[in-house]
Amino acid sequence: MDSGVGGLTILNESIKLNPNLDYYYFADYKSLPYGTKSPAVIRKSLVNNLNLLQEKFDFDVLVLGCNTLTAVAVDFLRRLYPDKIIIGTEPAIKVAINNQKTNILLLATPNTIKYNKLINQCKEDKNLNLQLKPMATLADLIEHNIGNLRELRPVIYKLLGDYTGYIDSIVLGCTHYIYLSKMIREYSQVPVFDGNFGVIKQIQKKTNPKKKAGKVYVLTNDIKKNDNLLKAWEILQSEGVRECAELLAT
Ligand code: DGL
Repeated sequence: MDSGVGGLTILNESIKLNPNLDYYYFADYKSLPYGTKSPAVIRKSLVNNLNLLQEKFDFDVLVLGCNTLTAVAVDFLRRLYPDKIIIGTEPAIKVAINNQKTNILLLATPNTIKYNKLINQCKEDKNLNLQLKPMATLADLIEHNIGNLRELRPVIYKLLGDYTGYIDSIVLGCTHYIYLSKMIREYSQVPVFDGNFGVIKQIQKKTNPKKKAGKVYVLTNDIKKNDNLLKAWEILQSEGVRECAELLAT
């Protein structure tokens, strides 16, 4: 689940690594953006969506393909559905640290920066220079420009210009931002990390694949946004949006 196209980056990569599973992807466009809504509102819509989805589909693993949902709802969901396996998406700060990075810029939604436990722990670490940059509108901008992401170059260049020379890595703490990963890496000239690989490994660990290739269903509660999902899927099929993080994570 995600608020839009972000979690498709996980779906796309998970299908490659774990093809013999059935996947149901749900884009909660009615709640986009999660990043600036109150946790209570996000949790309410999540429970509504899950109730509807559970009536129709029989799933046993729930993947939060979204750092924000994970930050505000993963503990709550695990209490609510103790029998389900729930996998969250976390900013890959640890992957950056394991790669000897100490001057890290984290881009994430305001909610992720406020509520993610790992970020709050890392803030206290005196050996780490973690720059937190809450991005209130970037996920929305990506959705609006999904047909032409180059339009966002000035926004990204302006944002990163302030950090040139001060950082040795960037962590993308929002699955939407992964569509800009290549642009961000090329401009910043530092490694760019995200949490997808960790999620995909968890999916592999917690599931029992079938003997043959599974099916993939992509669903949304706002049919007008179907086109966004299709365009995003095309991007993911046509170009490697990220290389570095995956290589470094392995
Ligand atoms: N893709 C989501 C994430 O990883 C957030 C997008 C939103 O703000 O809705 O945090």
